[in-house]
Formats: sequence, structure tokens, C-alpha cells
Amino acid sequence: MDIKGSVALVTGANRGIGRAFARALIEHGASKVYAGVRDPAAVADRDVTALRLDVTKPEEALEAATVADDVTIVINNAGIGGTGTSLWEGPFDGARQAMEVNYFGTWAVSRAFAPVLAHNGGGALVNMLSLASWVGRPRFPGYAAAKAAQWSLTDALRQALREQGTLVVGVHAGFVDTDLSAWVDAPKISAADVAEQTMQALAHDRSEVLVDEETRQTKAALSQPLDPEPGSSSTA
Ligand SMILES: NC(=O)c1ccc[n+]([C@@H]2O[C@H](COP(=O)([O-])OP(=O)(O)OC[C@H]3O[C@@H](n4cnc5c(N)ncnc54)[C@H](OP(=O)(O)O)[C@@H]3O)[C@@H](O)[C@H]2O)c1
Repeated sequence: MDIKGSVALVTGANRGIGRAFARALIEHGASKVYAGVRDPAAVADRDVTALRLDVTKPEEALEAATVADDVTIVINNAGIGGTGTSLWEGPFDGARQAMEVNYFGTWAVSRAFAPVLAHNGGGALVNMLSLASWVGRPRFPGYAAAKAAQWSLTDALRQALREQGTLVVGVHAGFVDTDLSAWVDAPKISAADVAEQTMQALAHDRSEVLVDEETRQTKAALSQPLDPEPGSSSTA
């Protein structure tokens, strides 16, 4: 699809990957970018249009879809880590909140904007997923489960929106250098890299973005058996 001349909405566009998405869209010629954010005052970029949108509030998603009725690209980027819930102890609050934002939030925004995209010719819906969509994470199980649920939702949306001509794109990445992953000491890619690869996928009508090598290897490994074959060298 053409990014040039498009009108986009990016949730959580005030910082991190969302901000990089907004910048990339403008660099690629989008005529307008709405930043769907909890606090419009937190949007520092002057060339985006701030729109109040807490994705956990379906009524705000519907209101945003009424205001931003010219949108042709929706990027569901807003997400949280669901910290504070370990596998073995403590309250489930963090994991529940990760489901609320990452899964139900994506669902609410997609529901609200699907008719807008249909009305404007189909367009594209992009969901910011993760390598953790495919593998459990003992250190952050709630986040991984919410990303797995969001991946399933992305697949359902892809099938359901095909008829109205909406391209549904899932973006998977390992660690990206933002506030969300500040706690981890590991190789990270830049938010700008994630955004640019996503622009390329949109421009070439591709449904999936596997941003980094670890993500590509993880997806390929899903076809391997969980248990080593008897007699294989790995059982030695
Ligand atoms: N960083 C990574 O390693 C990594 C890897 C793979 C995938 N991802 C995914 O990439 C996306 C962006 O993450 P990030 O790394 O850029 O994180 P980040 O720097 O922590 O930014 C998160 C963004 O989401 C917004 N947000 C949180 N709850 C919201 C809500 N209820 N309604 C609207 N906006 C909300 C935040 O807004 P406030 O400023 O108001 O809090 C902020 O703009 C997430 O979906 C995350 O799961 C991240």
C-alpha cells in the first residue's frame, strides 16, 4: 500500500517504538499522523496530532474513531510489561493489566477502527507483537501470555478483515531499546529499525515482520519437536 498520502493512527506514540512509528510514517509521506495517547500533553512532536486514547477504555476508542474518521493505517503499538507478577508468587495484577492493555486494548481499537478502514478503502492494521508471542517466558509470564493472545487476535483479524481489503500486519521483535526493556541487559535493536522495517512491509503488502535474527530463528524453531528424537546427538 501507499504510505505517501495516508492518514495513520499510532497508539502509545508519545515514546518508545510508537514514537518511532509516528516519525517513520511522516518520513515516508503520511499526510497526517494521530498519536493515540493517554495524556495528549505528553506528545512532544509538533507534526503529529494528539488524540486522547487509553486503549483499556473501549468508549475512548470509539470516540477516537469518530474524530479520526479519515484513518487508513492503524498501528496498535501501546503495550506494557505486566511487571510485578512472578511465576511462583505475588499478585496476578501485573499479568491481568498486561492482558487489558496488550490484548483487550488492541481488540478494542481494532473493533472501533475496522469500519473506518473499510470506509476509507481497506488500508492496513498493524499489531506490535513480540518474539514472546511464541514462547513462554518464566521471567515475565504475564507479558508473554498477553502477546500470545494478541498474536491469536491478529490472526483472527487478518482472516476477518480480508474481505474488506485490510492488510493486517504482525510485527515480532526481540528486545528493543526502550523504557519497557530498560531492566534487561541484553542486545537490543533500535525502535527506529522496527519502524523502518514495518514501513517496508506496508509498502510491499507483507503480513509479517520478523525484525531481528533471534526472532527469525525462534519462528523457524517452532516447527521442531519439543523433545529430541531418540538416538539424535542432542540426547547424548
Ligand atoms: N521494548 C521491547 O523490548 C519490545 C519488544 C517487542 C515488542 N514490544 C512491544 O512494543 C510496543 C511498544 O513498547 P515500547 O517498548 O515502546 O514501550 P514503552 O517505551 O514503555 O512505551 C509504551 C507506550 O505504550 C503506552 N501505553 C501504555 N498503556 C497504555 C494505555 N492503556 N493506553 C494507551 N497507551 C498506553 C505508553 O503510554 P504512557 O507514556 O502514557 O505510559 C507508551 O507510549 C508494546 O506493545 C510492546 O509490547 C516491545
